[in-house]
Amino acid sequence: MLKLHLKTSPAVLGASLLCAVLAQAQSTTPAPENGTFEVEQVFAGTCGFCHSDGGRAAGKGPQLMNSPRDDDFIRNRIKHGKQGAMPAFDGAFTEAQIEQIVKYIRALKPREG
Ligand code: HEC
Repeated sequence: MLKLHLKTSPAVLGASLLCAVLAQAQSTTPAPENGTFEVEQVFAGTCGFCHSDGGRAAGKGPQLMNSPRDDDFIRNRIKHGKQGAMPAFDGAFTEAQIEQIVKYIRALKPREG
């Protein structure tokens, strides 16, 4: 009985782990309106240290609002960073999430008030 228990429990554990991983993967699957990828919050938490005020102002990094760079440049900078200046984020975000960040940067406007 005990032997059987020991034999089956890793499988059960494995199955539930797999479920957890699948559920996780599903909940982070990017879709513009699924609400799990809050681009503004992600930006503030991940990029805000260097790109101040949500990207509206220069900090350690340049201001991103009204950037004269094209989308490809912005996408590539986020993915590959810049040696000694900015970390690369290609492992941290999916393509779709990077697209959302590019859109976020493009939509930046001065804060009102
Ligand atoms: C450790 C500081 C740091 C962090 C964190 C950081 N950046 Fe940067 N970023 C920089 C610096 C410095 C530059 C300027 C690089 C250069 O000299 O071309 C830059 C450049 C950029 C550029 C190109 C702007 C331009 O006009 O050249 C974009 C777009 C950008 N960052 C987006 C982001 C995003 C999005 C994040 C978060 C996912 C982020 N950065 C996180 C420091 C940072």
